[in-house]
Amino acid sequence: SAIGAFVNEKLTDFGNETNANEMRSAIKLIKSRQGEKYPLHIGDEVIYTDDMTVSVDPANPTQVVGYVSKASRDLAEKAMEASLLAFEKWKRTPVEERAVCLFKAASLIRDKKHEYSAWMILESGKNWTEADADTAEAIDFLEYYGREMLRLNRTNETNPLTRLTGEVNWLDYIPLGVGIVIPPWNFPLAICAGMTSAAVVAGNSVVLKPASTTPIIAYRFYETMIEAGIPPGVIQYLPGSGAEIGDYLTSHPKTRFISFTGSKEVGLRINRLAAETAEGQIWIKRVIAEMGGKDGTVVDETADLDMAAEAIVSAAFGFQGQKCSAGSRAIIVESVYDEMLAKIAELTAKLSLGQPTENKAIGPVIDESSYERILSYIERGKGKNRLLFGGGKGAGEGYFIEPTAFADVNPDSELMQEEIFGPVLAIAKATDWKEAIRIYNDTEFGLTGSYFSHDEDRIEAALRDMHCGNLYVNRKCTGALVGVHPFGGFNMSGTDSKAGGHDYLLLFTQAKLMSRKE
Ligand code: NAD
Ligand code: ALA
Repeated sequence: SAIGAFVNEKLTDFGNETNANEMRSAIKLIKSRQGEKYPLHIGDEVIYTDDMTVSVDPANPTQVVGYVSKASRDLAEKAMEASLLAFEKWKRTPVEERAVCLFKAASLIRDKKHEYSAWMILESGKNWTEADADTAEAIDFLEYYGREMLRLNRTNETNPLTRLTGEVNWLDYIPLGVGIVIPPWNFPLAICAGMTSAAVVAGNSVVLKPASTTPIIAYRFYETMIEAGIPPGVIQYLPGSGAEIGDYLTSHPKTRFISFTGSKEVGLRINRLAAETAEGQIWIKRVIAEMGGKDGTVVDETADLDMAAEAIVSAAFGFQGQKCSAGSRAIIVESVYDEMLAKIAELTAKLSLGQPTENKAIGPVIDESSYERILSYIERGKGKNRLLFGGGKGAGEGYFIEPTAFADVNPDSELMQEEIFGPVLAIAKATDWKEAIRIYNDTEFGLTGSYFSHDEDRIEAALRDMHCGNLYVNRKCTGALVGVHPFGGFNMSGTDSKAGGHDYLLLFTQAKLMSRKE
């Protein structure tokens, strides 16, 4: 049947009691499924290992969400072999058939949307709204990349080559080979689905190594893809230690590409290992690495201050600041600085902290090591900066941290320079808008940024000078939508792959020019 134009999946209004009740039922159902054991999937083999990762609920860490099998190097090698085998057939599967699997997967997720969200609520500590947006984005990626592959396949009609008399010339976008897909835990469904489905619809086979704290959501995605018709072997579900199987697969001579989203440290390591040519390797590995951010919001004195304060609070504390796009810095000009601090504090005070299952605004951070790391940044920050609010642990057994802001932070300090990846906002004062933009740019990262102003000349200058992959004016720096805001960053934020944009699938293909005498 005809495929309509891409439209973004609608978000759920939980103010509507019917929707809220459906979510409550989904959470109840998923709670009853906690504690199960999960296997690896390699080709058509289902493998349970003795060594298992225990995935827990970060809001109640004694609650086990599930036990997940863990691959060794031998199993990683087996996964590579299964991927190589499946690739031979999958690469010849017509593009239309590949795309249909993505559309089917999108529809399967849509049908049980709240169940997917409930898994995220329990395994990653997202509240209802954040989880619902993640599920909607996963659906979007599947719908979008399916259409993108069909579009790429029509390149010779839509973007014909220059005609040369006596010849027929055409270009095919063919797959690369076996890819290693390494997503992060912070968009455990959307980014996992986006990275995997883009690689697969382009005709590649992949080893999917899910993030260690959210392997069960990744499992739900894997099983959905199989139900949607992806043949076993095209995706291996292979949880395991990054250091053990990650390095092994990155360095493997048969690995053709690595699609990574995560921290700068791991991204740089993968880039370095992938640059080495292994014995028997006959290509340059392609590395797509989307990494961290130290994103920020600049506010000048002509801005709508209420709107700016709302954007700052939402971008800094949404999902506890655990987004690569999180606005962890605010740079505000002197003349409205105190007024803005008051507004930011007032809005944050309204955010309630508590259980994600109860849809509280602020939930836990992902795990104990994040919790300790974030609290140590806060403690060091207290010694050197003015604590505006927060600064402590939240009540409860989970990894709760109060939304925290420091004021008058020096642009050189670690609070302004390092990605903390938690609910910590650093606020700096600038003498004027030009200095504010300079401070914004004083970072090794370059992922998202916002500029709040009503002055057209300054907006024009900000659009030109703020150096980041996703720059927004008079709106928050989080919440990029598939198709609308292609996403990816500059400098140490990564390779600017622009996920959810027209350029993305090119990264998973190689163009073959074919020419024939007429
Ligand atoms: P991480 O780098 O710790 O882990 C990411 C993935 O890499 C995980 O699956 C992990 O198991 C794996 N890994 C770890 N060591 C490895 C190795 N040696 N070889 C191969 N894989 C290895 O990041 P995280 O904590 O999962 O995610 C948070 C980070 O991700 C933040 O820095 C955030 O900014 C970034 N992020 C970036 C984007 C983006 O689009 N730029 C989007 C989301 C998250
Ligand atoms: N795409 C996500 C956002 O924009 C990371 O917030």
